[in-house]
Amino acid sequence: MNSPVQKIKERLSIEEVVSSYIKLEKTGVNLKAKCPFHNEKTPSFFISPDRGTYYCFGCGASGDIFTFVEEFEGLDFKGALKLLADRAGVPLKAYSKEMKEAESEKEKLYRAMEKAEKFFISNLETKQIEYLKSRGLSEKTIKDFGIGFAKDDWRTLYEHLKLTGFSDLEIERAGLIKKTEKGYYDRFRNRIMFPMNDSSGRVIAFSGRITGEGEPKYLNSPETPIFSKNAVLYGIDKAKDSIRKNNFSVLVEGQMDLILSHQAGYKNTIATSGTALSDSTVSKENVVSNLGLVRRLSENLVLAFDADKAGASATIRAGKIALSLGMDVKVVDMPDGVDPADLIGKTGSDAWREAIKNSKHVIEFLLSKVLKNYSNDTRKAGREIKGTILPFVNALESSIEKMHFIKKISDLSGISQNALQDDLKKIEQEFRYEKEEIKEAGESLTKMYRKDYIERKLLGIALWQQSLADVGRPELGRPTSAIDFKAIFEKLGEVYKKYEVVKQDLIFEAEVFYTNNEKLENSITEMFLNLEEENINEELSKKMLELRQTSNEEIGKKILKEINELNKKKENIKNNRK
Ligand code: UTP
Ligand code: MN
Repeated sequence: MNSPVQKIKERLSIEEVVSSYIKLEKTGVNLKAKCPFHNEKTPSFFISPDRGTYYCFGCGASGDIFTFVEEFEGLDFKGALKLLADRAGVPLKAYSKEMKEAESEKEKLYRAMEKAEKFFISNLETKQIEYLKSRGLSEKTIKDFGIGFAKDDWRTLYEHLKLTGFSDLEIERAGLIKKTEKGYYDRFRNRIMFPMNDSSGRVIAFSGRITGEGEPKYLNSPETPIFSKNAVLYGIDKAKDSIRKNNFSVLVEGQMDLILSHQAGYKNTIATSGTALSDSTVSKENVVSNLGLVRRLSENLVLAFDADKAGASATIRAGKIALSLGMDVKVVDMPDGVDPADLIGKTGSDAWREAIKNSKHVIEFLLSKVLKNYSNDTRKAGREIKGTILPFVNALESSIEKMHFIKKISDLSGISQNALQDDLKKIEQEFRYEKEEIKEAGESLTKMYRKDYIERKLLGIALWQQSLADVGRPELGRPTSAIDFKAIFEKLGEVYKKYEVVKQDLIFEAEVFYTNNEKLENSITEMFLNLEEENINEELSKKMLELRQTSNEEIGKKILKEINELNKKKENIKNNRK
C-alpha cells in the first residue's frame, strides 16, 4: 500500500505546488524563481520537476513539496500533510485510523479545540447574533468565521468534552478549563468566541469577547502545546491566497477589524489579535518571523489602525521592522478614534475601499501627523521628525529611497536637507545594532529552521526504527536490522531532549515518509551530510562576524585561515555527495 505521502506526490507535482505560491521561470529542464526564504533580487532558487525537489543556491534551502509547504506556511509536518492531502484529494482518515494508537498529544488537543468550536457555535443564541449583526456582521460572515458563544455557566464545555472522551488533563492542556481546589471550571464564560486558526485551518486557540462592559474585553487562550501567542496572525488561513493574488496585505488590530475587512471584500487582511505583533512582551525575533511569513506572500503591506490609540505605536513598530525587511509599507489614514471595524460598520465597504486606496507611505503618513500636530512650533516639529520619523527613514534599505524621503521631509517641513542628513547619520549610528539584528533574525530564520528540521527527521527515523525493533513486528516496515538506529541516536547526541513531547509526531512522520522506501539508507547519509553542512555554515557566519568586528591584523589573519579551513570542509562534503 502506498503511503499518503507517496499518493500526494503522485498527484501533485512540485511545479504545481510551488507555482501556486511564487512565480516561476523556465530555464532548460528546470525552473527558477526568486527564493521565498531569503531576500534576493536575482533568482537563485531552482526546481527540478524530475526529482520533485528544490534547491536555493543563495541560502541553501532545499527539499520537496512537504518541506516547502512547512517552511512557506510555517506549519509542522502534520499541518503540511493536511493541507496537501486536502489539495490532492487524498483522504487521510483511513490511514490515521491505523495510526490511532500513535495519536499524539498535540493531535488530541487539535481535536478538543475542534469540538469546542462546534460546541460554542451550537450555543449561539439570537441575542448574540443580534449583537454581531448590530456591529455589521452578516450571517454568512458569522458562519464563515466560526463565531460562537460560551454560556454564562461554570462547566458546560468541560462536561461536554468529558462526555466526548477527553480527559481532565487534555482539556486543561488545551487551555479550555482552569483548576481550583473545588475542581475544574471553564476558562471562557459568557463571551462571544472567536476561533483562531493556523495557516492550514486547524483551530489552535480562542479569543472571547465580553458581551457587556468588563475586563478584559477580550480573553485569549493561554500558551499551549499547539498555541504560541508569538506565532499567530489571526485570519492567515483565509487571507493567504488573496494576499498572493492581490500582491498586498492589510494588517489590522483585532478580530472585529479583520472580520469586517474580509466581509468588505478585502480577504487579504490579517490581524495581530492583540498578540502576535503588537504585544510588547513578544520579542523582536517573533515579530520578524511573523512579518517574514507575510513577506513571502507579498512585499507590500498596508497598516490600518486607530491612530488615536496607544496600541497604534505597536503596529507602527511592526511597520518599522517591515521596512527593515525590505517591505513596502503604507498606512491607511483614518479619522482619530475610529478603527476599521467602526469605519466599515458605520459607513460601509465603499468607505473602506476608498481609505485603502488612499493609503500613504508610512513615512509620509507620520510626517503629515507631525506637521499637523506642531504646525506652529517648528522647533518641536524638528525634534519630532528626528525622534520618530528619521528612524523610519533609517530602516529603509536603499540609499536612493532614503534620499527621496529626506528631500520630501525637507520640502514639507522647511528643514534643510543637510541638517536632516546630519541627524540621519547620528540615527544610523544609534540604530546600527538594531538594524543588523533584525536583518540577521530575518535571515537566520530559515537557517535555524533547516538544522532543526534535519535533526527532527533523523531523530524520527531512529525512534521509528527503534519502535519497530521493540515490538518486533518487521511486517510493519522494512527489516529493521538494516538501519542502525543506535548509531543515529549516538551521532545526534543530546538532541532528543528537545523533542520529547513530539516523539509520537516524529515517529508518525518518519513512518508515513519512509515505509517501504528503498532509499532510506541513502536519505540518512544525505541528511547527515546536510547537517554537517549546516553546522559548518553556522560556524562560518560566526567567523565572518568576528572578522568584521576585529581591527587587529594578526587576529584577522588567523580568522581568515579558519574560514579557509571551513570552506575546504564544505567542498569535501560536496564531493562526498557526488
Ligand atoms: P481593542 O480594544 O481596540 O478592541 O483591541 P476592538 O478590536 O476595537 O474590539 P471591539 O471593536 O470593541 O469589539 C484590539 C485588539 O486587541 C486585542 C483583541 O484582539 C482586540 O481585537 N485585545 C484587546 C485583547 O487581546 N485583550 C483585551 O483585553 C483587549
Ligand atoms: Mn473596535
